[in-house]
Amino acid sequence: MVLSRELQVLDLKFVPFLDHSQILERISELGTSINQDFENKLPLFIPILNGAFIFAADLLKEICIPCEVSFVKVASYMGESTSGQVEEVLGLKTDIRGRHIILVEDIVDTGLTMSQLIKSFMPFQPASLSIATLFVKPDSVQVELPLTYVGFEIENKFIIGYGLDYNGQGRNFRDIYQKAD
Ligand code: IMP
Repeated sequence: MVLSRELQVLDLKFVPFLDHSQILERISELGTSINQDFENKLPLFIPILNGAFIFAADLLKEICIPCEVSFVKVASYMGESTSGQVEEVLGLKTDIRGRHIILVEDIVDTGLTMSQLIKSFMPFQPASLSIATLFVKPDSVQVELPLTYVGFEIENKFIIGYGLDYNGQGRNFRDIYQKAD
């Protein structure tokens, strides 16, 4: 498939980075691993809104073992830099005590958001806690995280598309675009 050309989003230019079909192929592999690792464990997927909504939808379609899904929302990110502050965790209705939790995230940058989220879950004593993230920026990560299911390790550049936004825009693109140099 040929990716469309350069994009202007607000004040930034972006260039094609990853094709939709490559993303789906990798997600299928992640799904296979999760199906094997969590058979008979009734995992609870907790996708983090807003960014993970498309990844979560495609990942869940690859899961063929019994499971549950409960979305949460955190507020922590503005523009191109992360604040590292999880201001609020909204929407978790399911009791996570004794459950096998798989946090579903679009991208781990510094890792501070995930780290704080995990800290807020630990008092409820889940049976296990792992992370499924579509992207990680290894050069940017500042904390130890259970990054068990990683789609792609990428360089430390800003990307958009497939759920990821730049100041609210670009989530709707099928492909991933990287900020132009
Ligand atoms: P962290 O706390 O630095 O790991 O930031 C995690 C959050 O920042 C992600 O859930 C995204 O919402 C956002 N983020 C980090 N890097 C990017 C990027 O390259 N594009 C879009 N959003 C990003």
